[in-house]
Amino acid sequence: MNSLWIDSIKGFSKFETLNNNLESDICIIGAGIFGMTCGYYLSHLGFKVIIIDKNTLAGTTSFTTGKITSQHGLFYSYLNTSYDMHFAKDYLEINEKAIQNIQNIITKEQIDCDFEIQNSYVYTTKKEELALLEKEQKVLESLAYHTELSKNMSLPFEVEGALCFKNQAKFNPLKYILGLSKTITEKNGQIYTNTIAVDIEKDKKNYVVYTDNGNIIKTKHVIMATRYPFMNVPGFYFSKLYQSTSYIIAVDTKKESINDMYINVSAPVYSLRTAKFNGKDILLLVSGNSKTGHDYSHENPYDTLKNFAKQYYPDCDVLYEWSSEDCISLDKLPYIGKYSSLLPNVYVGTGFKKWGMTLSNVAANLIVDEICERKNPYAYLFDSTRFGLFKNFDEVKNMVVDSTNSLLLNKLKSSDASLENIKPNSGDIIELDGKKVGIYRDKENQIHAINPICTHLGCLLTWNDIDKTWDCPCHGSRYDAFGKNLYGPAFKDLEIYQ
Ligand code: FES
Repeated sequence: MNSLWIDSIKGFSKFETLNNNLESDICIIGAGIFGMTCGYYLSHLGFKVIIIDKNTLAGTTSFTTGKITSQHGLFYSYLNTSYDMHFAKDYLEINEKAIQNIQNIITKEQIDCDFEIQNSYVYTTKKEELALLEKEQKVLESLAYHTELSKNMSLPFEVEGALCFKNQAKFNPLKYILGLSKTITEKNGQIYTNTIAVDIEKDKKNYVVYTDNGNIIKTKHVIMATRYPFMNVPGFYFSKLYQSTSYIIAVDTKKESINDMYINVSAPVYSLRTAKFNGKDILLLVSGNSKTGHDYSHENPYDTLKNFAKQYYPDCDVLYEWSSEDCISLDKLPYIGKYSSLLPNVYVGTGFKKWGMTLSNVAANLIVDEICERKNPYAYLFDSTRFGLFKNFDEVKNMVVDSTNSLLLNKLKSSDASLENIKPNSGDIIELDGKKVGIYRDKENQIHAINPICTHLGCLLTWNDIDKTWDCPCHGSRYDAFGKNLYGPAFKDLEIYQ
């Protein structure tokens, strides 16, 4: 899977794999936008920083849309109802500050990343949803934040209304991360890729991070910036996070397309923005918001997006298609701060929903303040040790049902799939001698067999025929068709059967 962002930075010099033992003040696990932003601030404060990543730079960030906004759907009505006005105001303030922070970094470090100030809109094409926009606007008015409701914008179809946040922004997230990496290394920070953290152990006042190739990093502080925390206990994040998959296509519309950034009010979700690529404005169209590992029987979302694009730009060319993974907490708020009260100096930032550009900056600032023992007045919004699960009874119930099915019940059910019925470039789970076996038949008719049990906590995987991956319905780990781990919380590959 390739994204437009990845091809836009082709040829950048890669980082080395860790091959010796090291010591640091701060070890950051994960070189996505959150980990790299932490690395940026901390290295500039004079800390000795080491960043490791299991893949290359910016794994998950390579597949985002790169919108920098405090408009997270119609979120402020939700915050006002679920918490209170003060809470909603603080959430808005800290996200607006994040936009400014990102712009400040880009200006100060002269990062060439196609940063552009734009408006952000939540729109609807349904009359009955106008009331939701008005309600959101009213809440924002009471927070003294000015928004505009309008119908005139550059979308190629009619809308009933749209709520506008002015002075939001967009950029190329990978060019931004490359810029961060340059300044981190200039400040003597070290970055290692293809280096998997497999465990963290307490060693008196410090920690030891163990890597897959047997090397260790001794460190005072650890920041787990792996999108989904890979360590199960004592944080138990697997019981309070799920993952959601979105699908994105990049389209050369062959004519002028849109200004600004858009997302609609309700499912099916459509999100739109343009991105600079090879001197052109390329339209990024996003859809889907499905829980990872669940129900792949509906229409192929890439086809839905292509039909959508063709409807308004009949001569368009689709240049790229890719999917992205997002972690979502049961109360829709990120977990930022201490990984667990039992492990001092280990930090986490996760559950950014689909809004990781601003929230990763928010998280980095909060964690830097924790490390520097500075009080941050916004920290209470994202308390990572909170336990508010029962507020969201439906989400909790879904999680328990999914886990029970995949851990137990589905393993007991016999599969009616057979080897002969698996088409080329497709997969399924069959029974062989009473044992479940995951089969992928490649385009050349070769059979590849894996043990379809997730290496995280042992749930039964499902075949995703859209992206040709093995996906876990429990906590959203994903593996390629041959069993290589793509997304955590699992970090080990699947067992391969000969
Ligand atoms: Fe947790 Fe698969 S991701 S069991």
